Amino acid sequence: MVRLLAALFAWLNTLHVARALENGQGLMPPMGYSSRSDCSTEVTEWRIKNVTLSLIETGLAAKGYVYVNIDEGWLAGRNVTTGKIYANPHKFPSGIKALADWVHDQVVPGKGNIMKIGLYTSRGTCQCSTNTYHGPGSQWHVSEDAHWLGYAGMDYLKEESCCSSQNHSVAIREYENMRDALDATTRFTNRSVFFSVCGRGSWYAPVGASLGNSWCVAKHGSHWGALSNSINENAALWNFSRPGAWNDPDLLQGTGVGSNDLPQNPRGCYDPRQAPHTHDWYVTEEQSRAQFSMWAVMSAPLLISADVGQVSQYSLETWGNEEVIAVSQSFVRGGPYQGQRLFGEDLKFDKRSAKGKGVNVWGKKLPCGSFALVFINNNNEASDVLCDMWCFEQMVEADVTQYSMRDLWARNNTGTLKKPFSYTALQVPKHGGVVMLRFKVISTWPVREVSPHTKYRIGRRCDSTVGEV
Ligand SMILES: *[C@@H]1O[C@H](CO)[C@@H](O)[C@H](O)[C@H]1NC(C)=O
Ligand SMILES: *[C@@H]1O[C@H](CO)[C@@H](O)[C@H](O)[C@H]1NC(C)=O
Ligand SMILES: *[C@@H]1O[C@H](CO)[C@@H](O)[C@H](O)[C@H]1NC(C)=O
Ligand SMILES: *[C@@H]1O[C@H](CO)[C@@H](O)[C@H](O)[C@H]1NC(C)=O
Ligand SMILES: *[C@@H]1O[C@H](CO)[C@@H](O)[C@H](O)[C@H]1NC(C)=O
Ligand SMILES: *[C@@H]1O[C@H](CO)[C@@H](O)[C@H](O)[C@H]1NC(C)=O
Repeated sequence: MVRLLAALFAWLNTLHVARALENGQGLMPPMGYSSRSDCSTEVTEWRIKNVTLSLIETGLAAKGYVYVNIDEGWLAGRNVTTGKIYANPHKFPSGIKALADWVHDQVVPGKGNIMKIGLYTSRGTCQCSTNTYHGPGSQWHVSEDAHWLGYAGMDYLKEESCCSSQNHSVAIREYENMRDALDATTRFTNRSVFFSVCGRGSWYAPVGASLGNSWCVAKHGSHWGALSNSINENAALWNFSRPGAWNDPDLLQGTGVGSNDLPQNPRGCYDPRQAPHTHDWYVTEEQSRAQFSMWAVMSAPLLISADVGQVSQYSLETWGNEEVIAVSQSFVRGGPYQGQRLFGEDLKFDKRSAKGKGVNVWGKKLPCGSFALVFINNNNEASDVLCDMWCFEQMVEADVTQYSMRDLWARNNTGTLKKPFSYTALQVPKHGGVVMLRFKVISTWPVREVSPHTKYRIGRRCDSTVGEV
């Protein structure tokens, strides 16, 4: 019995300390664009080039959005004679390699050639497929496909799990095979690949770090109900995230503007009548802002799945908010690297009846004793959301007596908060309303007043991957 228990604990321990990939990728949550919810499977070379230029023109690239990820839809088939995959020549007339070279050649002012390209596959015999698209998966062709993709110049690979065994040990072995095949390509590409394991399910989290640089923890996060579910799933998984290995609650959703409106807009991507699976995609601008706040505290990948050349100014201000981006991209050394739910139960939202329930407070510790709080409301009416003493206790360090507060969406300083700490966000809007605050230490006990203008570092750990927020 004792030996059995010891063996069990040893096994649990290997799960927890499963070594990260150590391919040098994803030391911070990746940022960029994904074509999935923008174009469904109708992504084209033209769209990818136009979005790349828009990321640069809007300034988002300079803020860190450097991955341009081509999701499902680029791959036409597999040559039965050679076994090699080939891209759709109508959608990608120049070919993937030429497109990757083009993306790598783009110059971001002040930053240089920092743009990167991502591609997509499935570990099964076919890709996930839609009414208008069917593509082959990498089953039985893992090393050939990895070679092809590496040669094409890819920096990021998302691998889904369609048309494959859902047996966990088979799934793990297949993802390991792709991981090793990608690793082998670095010998001739001199480039390592960010590996996005997208089997979808929270059970991937304990083994995720040994497979890839991120892993999808929930079903496709399309509308606000699905995204609320991703948040709920992710709540228990905070301790599995760390540099090089992130929980992935899915893409940043847009409102659909510029995406699914080909009949009205020549710069749309697809005709929604031909893609019924997309009928309940997209969120409101406010929900998208709530999602972005949550994805920042959860240290999630920040992949905008909308054409940033056509979205509203409000959406650009959401994804371009540097103070929120900084919350996503900085950590307390030694962790925890992902924020945690401090108060509240699972958030509910039903897309069809447009009814919701629940409020949450989430927090993420930041360098120098700072932290960020997100107050979120899914109720059917505007609600006050309270973070009481017990809620704060999970974030504050024992000697701190006073914090300054800043509202990251109003972009103003909103005063100071003294011990005993408690804060109520008043009348947070319904169905995905959000308030996001950042707290900085201004005094401690024994008294050592610290000017808000000087860097706080008296006996406090200010080291971080990025710098003070
Ligand atoms: C994207 O394409 C549209 C339509 O041709 C064009 O008006 C726009 O300027 C392009 N965006 C960029 C950033 O080049
Ligand atoms: C498959 O590969 C062979 C040999 O390279 C080539 O002749 C043939 O045209 C290819 N077929 C397709 C559909 O690309
Ligand atoms: C999953 O696959 C493994 C190894 O192939 C096998 O031993 C196991 O029985 C399978 N589990 C289930 C539930 O089918
Ligand atoms: C490989 O990449 C590294 C880092 O980007 C670079 O320093 C080195 O010169 C490259 N080597 C070759 C042979 O291209
Ligand atoms: C979190 O995981 C690390 C190993 O990655 C472990 O050392 C630590 O004890 C865990 N912390 C909690 C609170 O579970
Ligand atoms: C901060 O900005 C919000 C929204 O613009 C405003 O309602 C609030 O009064 C401001 N607070 C302070 C302290 O300036």
